[in-house]
Amino acid sequence: MNTKGNLPPSGRIDVALIGCGTMGIANMNEIMKDGRVRVTRTCDPVADSPAYGYDPDWSKKFRGGRIPCMETVNAFYKGDVCRAVADWREVVADPSIDAVLIATTDHWHAIIAIAAMKAGKHVFCQKPLTMSIAEGRRMCQVADETGVVFQVGSQQRSAAEFREAAELVANGYLGECRSCTIGLCPPHNDSHGNGFPRDARPRRELPDWWKLSAEEWDMWQGPAPHWEGNAFVPGIHGPMVWRWNDRTGNGCLPDWGAHHLDILQWALGTERGGPVAIENVTSDLAETADAVFSWPCLYQFDVVYADGFRATVCDAKTAGFNGLRFHAPKGDLFVTRGKIEKPAHLASWTEADLLPGEKHLHRSRGTHESDFVDAIFDRAWEPACPCEVGHRSITIAHLANSCIRTGVTAIRWDAVRETSDNAAVNARADIERLNGWELG
Ligand SMILES: NC(=O)c1ccc[n+]([C@@H]2O[C@H](COP(=O)([O-])OP(=O)(O)OC[C@H]3O[C@@H](n4cnc5c(N)ncnc54)[C@H](O)[C@@H]3O)[C@@H](O)[C@H]2O)c1
Repeated sequence: MNTKGNLPPSGRIDVALIGCGTMGIANMNEIMKDGRVRVTRTCDPVADSPAYGYDPDWSKKFRGGRIPCMETVNAFYKGDVCRAVADWREVVADPSIDAVLIATTDHWHAIIAIAAMKAGKHVFCQKPLTMSIAEGRRMCQVADETGVVFQVGSQQRSAAEFREAAELVANGYLGECRSCTIGLCPPHNDSHGNGFPRDARPRRELPDWWKLSAEEWDMWQGPAPHWEGNAFVPGIHGPMVWRWNDRTGNGCLPDWGAHHLDILQWALGTERGGPVAIENVTSDLAETADAVFSWPCLYQFDVVYADGFRATVCDAKTAGFNGLRFHAPKGDLFVTRGKIEKPAHLASWTEADLLPGEKHLHRSRGTHESDFVDAIFDRAWEPACPCEVGHRSITIAHLANSCIRTGVTAIRWDAVRETSDNAAVNARADIERLNGWELG
C-alpha cells in the first residue's frame, strides 16, 4: 500500500488493468512504457473477443479481453509477469497490486474504484467518472479518507492545446469573455455504432465474437438491470455501444461532456465548485429514445455561473463542431483535440509569455497516465484531474441529463450542498444498484 507515500522496496509499482476493452488497451499500452510501472494483472469477464475498437468495419476491429491483454503485456516484458483474472475482487484483494486502471463500462466505475481505494490502491478511473452525482460524492469522500492518488481519465487536461486555451481564458487574455459554445461529439445515432445495429432483440445464445460463461455474464452486468430472461442484446451489451443505454452508460452528453465541461470548469476556475443554474434545456428525447438509446441524440442547454458567464452546450451536429468556442470582442478562441485557433491579437502568444503572477495551470510532464504515476512517486504532485475535479465536471452533465429525462427546462444549482431547487431532478441524484451490489 502506498497511501502514505511509501513505495515498495522494488521502487516500482504493480498495476492492474480492470476493463480490457477499447480504451483500457490504450491506457495499458501507454502506462507500460513507464519504467516505474509493471502491469501484473489484466482483468475482464470477457476472456477474448475480436470485437473491439471504434471502426464499424469488422475487418479493422481488434482483439480485447483479459487474455489478449495479458499476452500483450507478457510479450512486452518478455516474461510471464502478468496474470489474467475474470473477477476484479481478486485484484482488489491482492496486496501485491499498488494501483488500478479502471476502464470498464461506466456502470462499474464507482463500485470498483471505491473498493480499490479502500484496499489502499491508487486509482486511475476513466471518464465519465460516475453514473450519478451521489456516486461521485461518495468516491470523493473515500479518496479523501484513504489518501490514495486518484486520476480521472480526462486526458484533455494533459494536452497542451487545452491548457493553453484554459490559461488564456483564466488570465483574461481574451478581454471581456462572457460566454462560450460547446459542441459535444456527434450524436450517438451518427457515431460509435461500432458495427452493431440499433438492435433491441434479445439473444439467448451469446454470439461467437463474445463468449462468456454464466458467471462472467453476471459479472459483466453486475449492478445493472438484467434484460428479461438474462438475455444478451447486441445493441445494448456490445462493446462500446453499452454507453447509449442507461443500464450501463450515460449517453453521449456525459460521454464527451466529461471532456469539454471539464475544460470549461478549468478555464473558469470553478473546478471544485460549479454553476449556479442550468437553463433553456431542450432535446429530441421524445423522438429518439427507445430500448437501445435511453438518452437523447440532439440536445441543448445553458450552464450559468455566479458571475453571469454562460456556456451554451449542445451536440456537435447542432453546434457544427466538437470542441469549445469562447466568445470575445476581439475574436473567438476555439479549441478541440490537436487544434487551437486564437484571435489575431494572440496569434503569437505562447505559454512562455505567462507572467509569474498569472495563473499557471497544471502541466503534466508527460502523458495523462504518466502524470498519475508522477503523483504516486511524488506525493507533493497533484494529478491533473483528481477525483473531486472529475466529479464536479461530470455533475454538470448529470444535471443536464436529469433535466432532460424529467422534462425540466431550468434549475438553480447549489454547488456547495450539491442540490437543486427541483424535486424531480434531486430524486435522480443516484441510481439503483441491483443484484446484491452496493457502492461501498
Ligand atoms: N478518455 C477517453 O478519451 C475515453 C475514450 C473512450 C472510452 N473512454 C471510457 O473508457 C471506458 C471503457 O470504454 P471503451 O470504449 O473501452 O468500452 P469497451 O466496451 O471497448 O470496453 C469496456 C470493457 O469493460 C469490460 N467490463 C465490463 N464489466 C467489467 C467488470 N466487471 N470487470 C472488468 N471489466 C469489465 C467489458 O467486458 C469491456 O471489455 C468507459 O468509461 C469510457 O467512457 C474514455
